Amino acid sequence: MSIMKEIAERRSVRRYLEKDVTKEQVMEILEAGRLSLSGSNTQPWRFMVIRDKARKMPIVKADHDQQWMMEAPVFIACLADMKSRSAEYAVPEDTTETGASNLIKLVIRDTAIAVSFMILQAQHMGLNTCWTGWFDQREMRTALGISDDYYVSGILTVGYGAESPEQRPRLSMDDILLLDESEA
Ligand SMILES: Cc1cc2nc3c(=O)[nH]c(=O)nc-3n(C[C@H](O)[C@H](O)[C@H](O)COP(=O)(O)O)c2cc1C
Repeated sequence: MSIMKEIAERRSVRRYLEKDVTKEQVMEILEAGRLSLSGSNTQPWRFMVIRDKARKMPIVKADHDQQWMMEAPVFIACLADMKSRSAEYAVPEDTTETGASNLIKLVIRDTAIAVSFMILQAQHMGLNTCWTGWFDQREMRTALGISDDYYVSGILTVGYGAESPEQRPRLSMDDILLLDESEA
């Protein structure tokens, strides 16, 4: 059994069929996130499952009005609970990307791992996803109706893809392998 197939075949998909995704499928994807790893087992990830069109609209608007998202039957809002490590860091003054305190970076980091697991699980189940993150934190929190205690890692679109994009270019192994002692 190899997970390389899912890793290699996954694409960000931005067109979806009008085919529904069941609650069981959504729960299986969330389970992959629940079982993910995190520094000190902090498990800062929190999720919201959104299907309702009226609820989706302000989310899409906040997400740089990426209208293609509306085709996806399910959105999973992937949140990092910033209180997970220390209540002190719950509400940073600066919510821009570069202004986040270090502890907040850790919960954001750990939530990203869980989202990656969920994306691969969805791929394994024959579903497609796109991680979207083109939004201002404050606007997206308002759209989701959540407090400043959460950092929105991404809005994951989930559904059956209606497109099969080519693989996007990747750096070569030479570009990314800074030290190579792989040979025993
Ligand atoms: C954190 C993050 C945020 C992203 N935000 C968006 C987005 O807002 N809209 C979008 O169309 N794609 C978004 N993407 C998808 C990337 O553009 C995509 O992963 C990248 O171009 C590589 O293509 P691939 O996923 O098909 O391999 C995002 C991906 C990540 C990891």
